[in-house]
Amino acid sequence: MPAPALDTIANLAKKRGFVFQASEIYGGLRSSYDYGPLGVEMLKNVKNEWWKAMVQHRSDVVGLDSAILQARQVWQASGHEEVFTDPMVECTNCNGRFRLDKLADNNKCPTCGKIGTFTDPRNFNLMFRTHMGPIDTEENLVYLRPETAQGIFTNFESVRRTNRLKLPFGVAQIGKSFRNEITPGQFVFRTREFEQMEMEFFCHPDESAEWFQYWQDQRFQWYLDLGMQQGNLRIRPHDTDELSHYSAGTVDVEYRFPWGWDELEGIANRTDFDLKQHSEHSGEDLRYFDQEANERYFPHVIEPAAGATRTMFAFLIDAYHEEVVDDDERVVLKLHHNLAPYKVAVLPLSKKAELIEPAEKVLSTLQRRWMVELDVTQSIGKRYRRQDEIGTPYCVTIDFDTLDDQAVTVRDRDTMKQDRVSLDGLERYLFEKLD
Ligand code: GAP
Repeated sequence: MPAPALDTIANLAKKRGFVFQASEIYGGLRSSYDYGPLGVEMLKNVKNEWWKAMVQHRSDVVGLDSAILQARQVWQASGHEEVFTDPMVECTNCNGRFRLDKLADNNKCPTCGKIGTFTDPRNFNLMFRTHMGPIDTEENLVYLRPETAQGIFTNFESVRRTNRLKLPFGVAQIGKSFRNEITPGQFVFRTREFEQMEMEFFCHPDESAEWFQYWQDQRFQWYLDLGMQQGNLRIRPHDTDELSHYSAGTVDVEYRFPWGWDELEGIANRTDFDLKQHSEHSGEDLRYFDQEANERYFPHVIEPAAGATRTMFAFLIDAYHEEVVDDDERVVLKLHHNLAPYKVAVLPLSKKAELIEPAEKVLSTLQRRWMVELDVTQSIGKRYRRQDEIGTPYCVTIDFDTLDDQAVTVRDRDTMKQDRVSLDGLERYLFEKLD
């Protein structure tokens, strides 16, 4: 199936309660989004899968949750205050502002179509500024973090010491980041507030090339393991002029979005740039001491850095399918079970108390283990379609026969095959399918 249009996914996301425009009752705040009941579940699932793969299933990576607000010196040392900028031009005809490196034609305004009306580019710093305390002075200036990574570097020594870690090891973190993007857009792809999933892997400088390749392979496989179609994924090395100020080499994991290939995740070789900078600026020696080799050095760092919100969006696009079944069209999100917001829907065939009662019993049993929805409205056909559209892998229907045979019908989202399963064996049946 060709990639669905961006509007198709955005409309589904809004209609079904994955993502809402922020401040919508006031006309909406551009590029800001709220995650609804389904979106919050799916986003949590994306983050959980990342955490499981990067932390829980490994013995060489630990977690961290550092503050969004850090001392201003952190961003001076990291280079963000000076060079975390994008080149911006302004159209003198319509006053539109654009990121120069993202323009299709850097002499023609995409809004009013005029040619030769751009100002000279100027560098625009992407960090959001605010003030700590009641007075808005330069001394009280703080930034909202533009990446979660720096909190890992500033905690490198505390994490290493308190957890008695030996190289190579990684520190992972998931959290909000903020960038005052000049041209946010494409729904939740580029926003000013977003969530990142980043891991800094510290190693001996001689081993960094090997680990760089290792993490590219691991991260690419992660998307495939969660069902992303291989034909929609690729790895693209950065050209030298694209590299961030800290990077000796970066590749992007790219996804084929409705508008073309674009970045899903960056994997960078940050060398010893950050630890050295923080050592110099803070006066703390952040070198690692290898007792066996009697060697003291700055570790090198390989960083897989993904966007949680962007990744969720890509999984939504990838899972979207339109199918014709018995002359009837259905939209189905073929999400990996682990990513689906609800794992099971419980559907009593009628609203009569004699069916609602066993349905509620089934619901409360299954809820102990999974996110489950009880849906009693509309015809059973419409309820199946709705569950297909939100990607629920299994629907459990309770009908009047249930009262006699103590069994229910379980419908599979993808095959639409139905099995009759005894109430006693239902949890085990679903457990085998889902876990
Ligand atoms: N610490 C390295 C770093 O932040 P990055 O490539 O700028 O690298 C990593 O960001 C990931 O964060 C991106 O690949 C993307 O998935 C996500 N990301 C970056 N800016 C974003 C934005 N404005 N909106 C949504 N996600 C964004």
